[in-house]
Amino acid sequence: METAVAISLTLFILTGLCAGQGLFPQGSVNGAEGGTAMFITNLIPPAQPFIIISWTVGGANIITSTSDDSIGPGYGDRITLNKTTGSLELRNLTLADSGGYRVAITTATAETINGSTELVVYENVSDANITGPSNNLFADVSSANLTCEAAGNITTIQWTKEGQPLSAGGNILFSEENRKVSISPVKRHDSGEYVCKLTNPASSATASYRMIVNYKTPPPLSPEGAAGIAVAVMLVVVAVALGLYFGLTHQRNNSTNTTETGSSHAPDTNHGPGTSLAPDTSHGPGAKGGRVYENLGPPLPPPRGSNIYNRSIK
Ligand SMILES: *[C@@H]1O[C@H](CO)[C@@H](O)[C@H](O)[C@H]1NC(C)=O
Ligand SMILES: *[C@@H]1O[C@H](CO)[C@@H](O)[C@H](O)[C@H]1NC(C)=O
Ligand SMILES: *[C@@H]1O[C@H](CO)[C@@H](O)[C@H](O)[C@H]1NC(C)=O
Ligand SMILES: *[C@@H]1O[C@H](CO)[C@@H](O)[C@H](O)[C@H]1NC(C)=O
Ligand SMILES: *[C@@H]1O[C@H](CO)[C@@H](O)[C@H](O)[C@H]1NC(C)=O
Ligand SMILES: *[C@@H]1O[C@H](CO)[C@@H](O)[C@H](O)[C@H]1NC(C)=O
Ligand SMILES: *[C@@H]1O[C@H](CO)[C@@H](O)[C@H](O)[C@H]1NC(C)=O
Repeated sequence: METAVAISLTLFILTGLCAGQGLFPQGSVNGAEGGTAMFITNLIPPAQPFIIISWTVGGANIITSTSDDSIGPGYGDRITLNKTTGSLELRNLTLADSGGYRVAITTATAETINGSTELVVYENVSDANITGPSNNLFADVSSANLTCEAAGNITTIQWTKEGQPLSAGGNILFSEENRKVSISPVKRHDSGEYVCKLTNPASSATASYRMIVNYKTPPPLSPEGAAGIAVAVMLVVVAVALGLYFGLTHQRNNSTNTTETGSSHAPDTNHGPGTSLAPDTSHGPGAKGGRVYENLGPPLPPPRGSNIYNRSIK
């Protein structure tokens, strides 16, 4: 009974192995150009050494190992055979090494064990690069295309933004097998570090791009701000009035240099920080945004009361 089970089990295993099933894991072996491939059998080292181990690719001899080793041309310094398991290491891979590999083993009991697998050698992914917009981007106005490229065999491209996967939807569209991300229109929150990762089963590379979306619209004027500006305007008016008053008094009392002193007083007040706020109130908060967008490069909102406001209003 026990022997019957043992025999049928042995037969089952041998039948499987003879058909080449299960000697290698399913699927192909992937290698990088210049790298190393391992063809690892699942054979347990036998009590008695194998009599013949023969490895071929596309029918051509790689190594036939008996008491002597016969090694095919081009493999002399590239292979290592494990004679107890039949596993083979192949180094310094070239694209031409891709193909169907087969091993035939003759055991000490004259059984034949055959197995086959596929090697795919990939060009390493290198020189990854993202091309993005070279002009300034403005929230809700501009669009941006980011294009990810690299040398080598590329099977997948994935994008992240600030370390989180970037997914399509809303203003984000992927095209050209994920090579290209189109963002239209760009939003303020689209600013950040974009990374694309290009991979093949044997290697990968990444590139990054920092996108800056300019958001310069100053916040709408708060009631406090409006009140502050009103006070400032009043102070300016008073200052101008006082300046004119003293200027005129001075002019009247002075017989010489009247125009010079008089004119030097009045423009002074016009250059103070208060005056530049005055035109703002007349235009209201809504009138500002658009002009500021078109005229200015720097990404930060201009400080209130700077010359920028004057420029934008002209
Ligand atoms: C195993 O392969 C050898 C040649 O590689 C072939 O002669 C033999 O018939 C094969 N055996 C089986 C069981 O497939
Ligand atoms: C490709 O990558 C592998 C593994 O990183 C490396 O061993 C090999 O030298 C690279 N090949 C080339 C051509 O750079
Ligand atoms: C052959 O492979 C077996 C199993 O992985 C390992 O134990 C043994 O050390 C290897 N022999 C050589 C010469 O590398
Ligand atoms: C790998 O192969 C290339 C071209 O065939 C050769 O120039 C180089 O010396 C080899 N490198 C090694 C480590 O065998
Ligand atoms: C990326 O692409 C740009 C434009 O095509 C080029 O100027 C730049 O040199 C590339 N960088 C790399 C690392 O390939
Ligand atoms: C982005 O690419 C699309 C084509 O895929 C093109 O129609 C569009 O004008 C590009 N947008 C920008 C901002 O370059
Ligand atoms: C890798 O790229 C080379 C050259 O473009 C091509 O000949 C080869 O078939 C590609 N290999 C794979 C596995 O895609």
